[in-house]
Amino acid sequence: MNLRIPGPIPVPEDILATMATPMMNHRGPQFKELLYRVTDGVKQVFDTKNDLYILTSSGTSAMEAAIVNTLSPRDKVLNVSIGSFGDRFGQIAGIYGADITKLDFPWGSTVDIDALRDTLKANPGIGTVMVTHNETSTGVTNDLEAIASVVKGEFDKLLLVDGISSVCSIPLQTDAWGCDVVATASQKGWMLPPGLAFISFSERAWEAHASAKMPKFYLDLAQYRSYYEKGQPPYTPAVSIYYALDLAIAQLQEEGIDALFARHARIAEMTREGIKDLGLSLFPDERYASNTVTAVSIPEGVVASDLLRIVREDHNVVLGGGQGPVDGKIFRIGHMGKTTSDDIRGVLDALAASLPKLGFAPAGAAR
Ligand SMILES: Cc1ncc(COP(=O)(O)O)c(C=O)c1O
Repeated sequence: MNLRIPGPIPVPEDILATMATPMMNHRGPQFKELLYRVTDGVKQVFDTKNDLYILTSSGTSAMEAAIVNTLSPRDKVLNVSIGSFGDRFGQIAGIYGADITKLDFPWGSTVDIDALRDTLKANPGIGTVMVTHNETSTGVTNDLEAIASVVKGEFDKLLLVDGISSVCSIPLQTDAWGCDVVATASQKGWMLPPGLAFISFSERAWEAHASAKMPKFYLDLAQYRSYYEKGQPPYTPAVSIYYALDLAIAQLQEEGIDALFARHARIAEMTREGIKDLGLSLFPDERYASNTVTAVSIPEGVVASDLLRIVREDHNVVLGGGQGPVDGKIFRIGHMGKTTSDDIRGVLDALAASLPKLGFAPAGAAR
């Protein structure tokens, strides 16, 4: 099966196989070595010297951890959103009682830096800004460096980043850009199954933690910090995925992180060019189209669910649909991890063969 949703991604055979390794004592010396080794490896990918913790849970838990570990009810927070996952970040903070100011941009577009600056200027009581680096629901990558330079450089706010579909695929310099908290998850660029989330936490975030009153138990990073000193996680970890992470990191280090980013950029470019060659349109403006997920507009007259069904049933290609307001209007092609040009060719060929059955003549003969 050519699984091309934006996570979970196909996991290479050798990484899958390593998960068959027998269990070990997660409070013993072998696990301590493993924990320290993989944490150091993940930190290298985050480009950070900040603390970093591995949670046994999906990415949303790391978003929730970012919030409950730094905020108190009624704290003023700016929720910058360009899509579904940006909205989710604000929703979680709202449920815990934060006082949210929303700064929304149309789905398919990116954060307008001047509007961000104006909003922070007009609302001096805001202490924290939360933003999505790569918005998976619309296939858009925000210019996080520019966002951080306003949030941190000009206004010195706490910056919480959802890097779930960017870290390990698209450059994100946690320390150099001043991101206080960055959250990501194993089933994206890391070449792993779902089940682990990673969260980096700066000194400034720890200062916020000292007065943060939101309730927390499983996600209280103070527990992770004190257990880390002993070489343990506070609660039973997904040991098998740690084995997989260990191998994935070794492979990343062998390839080199810059080479990995360049490979993602190449595959994304090939995807976008192939889509345009078919006569289809990218959903976002190409200038900020993501290198991990390509969102494509469904052509007039084509029923999205029919297209996804035909490529799946006839060509074994599994694509992502649209979510929320773009449900039925876009489809998405995931290209994180070890996506090859053959994988993408398979997607483009499946689309070229399927679209005519739905009344759309692809322009792709030239391809
Ligand atoms: C940008 C972004 N944020 C948050 C999430 C939620 O992560 P999870 O489904 O692992 O909880 C995702 C998952 O697709 C995502 O892409």
